[in-house]
Amino acid sequence: MLIFSTSDKGGTGRSVTSCNIAYRLCLAGLNVAYVDFDFGSPTAGALFEISAVERGVPGNRGVHSYLLGESGTAHRVDVGSATDRPQLRRIGPRAGRLVLVPGDEGGAEFLTCDNAVVTRCAELLVGLEQEFKVVIVDLSAGRSVALEIALKTTAMPQLRHRVARWLIFHRWTRQHILAAAGLVHGAHGLLDTGVAAGHDKDALLDSLRYVRTAVAETGAEPAGRAEADAANRLALQAPQDTWIREQDAILKRLASANHLGTITVLGVTPIEPVLQWREQIVLDFDVNNKIANEATARAYAELARRLTDNATWERL
Ligand SMILES: Nc1ncnc2c1ncn2[C@@H]1O[C@H](COP(=O)(O)OP(=O)(O)OP(=O)(O)O)[C@@H](O)[C@H]1O
Ligand SMILES: [Mg+2]
Repeated sequence: MLIFSTSDKGGTGRSVTSCNIAYRLCLAGLNVAYVDFDFGSPTAGALFEISAVERGVPGNRGVHSYLLGESGTAHRVDVGSATDRPQLRRIGPRAGRLVLVPGDEGGAEFLTCDNAVVTRCAELLVGLEQEFKVVIVDLSAGRSVALEIALKTTAMPQLRHRVARWLIFHRWTRQHILAAAGLVHGAHGLLDTGVAAGHDKDALLDSLRYVRTAVAETGAEPAGRAEADAANRLALQAPQDTWIREQDAILKRLASANHLGTITVLGVTPIEPVLQWREQIVLDFDVNNKIANEATARAYAELARRLTDNATWERL
């Protein structure tokens, strides 16, 4: 299964959320490859706390060089053995493998997407897809060449019948909702580019879901929510609480009017204080030590579950 993570804006939480989904999939026993296609800013190594590749891999061995034909293989890093974080090294006996395919240190965005790049990308993804249950590709933000490469590659005969799913990350604000809708439905957006590459528009739309990140919870106890989550809710005064609820309702209407209604949402992540300070995998260790909120870990686990559950991906 191929998963492509994208967003219109930068700083949406696309990479942090995708890495955390990868970790949760591993915990569930799946072998996962995480491929850094954010060519201009290949920092996935930092999220997995692998200092040797925290800004990409040196020496033209990264995925960017591979796609350009400058390197015969794309360098791989086994997260479990290379991470500096001891608790990430010991995920557990039933966990799957987690492998990072990093970008090139000092890499740059692709300016154009030619057939040779698409052919090499297809070879890379076909190989990874055979070896790993889930392959997560973190794309550059916006209408990037990385997105175009991904759309053209998945339309090729060797990949068009494989399962490919698209996640669009956005913050829960007016500007981000409009931007995410524009990336998918707007001119030169994902659907336009996908159809030009040979995808069926409805099928592409059915394989796409949104992820709302860092969404504020209001003070009132949500129905069915455990007492333990109290610490995760904002300490709000009554007028603030009322105001946020009104804004939330406005954003829900805006999302629905822009094809981003509830049915199209894979999941929501809460604001996590740890992630406001530090980009990282939220480990069960962090939750057990009361550093990270349980609601955050639960949100990532639920995203991972829904991502691989075919029921989530029935026709909209
Ligand atoms: N649930 C959350 N709560 C609080 N902060 C978060 C949450 N998720 C992500 N963040 C923070 O938001 C910032 C942006 O996240 P991230 O780098 O993943 O975004 P991105 O969309 O990949 O950005 P870029 O376009 O620069 O690659 C990071 O500092 C991250 O730790
Ligand atoms: Mg990123």
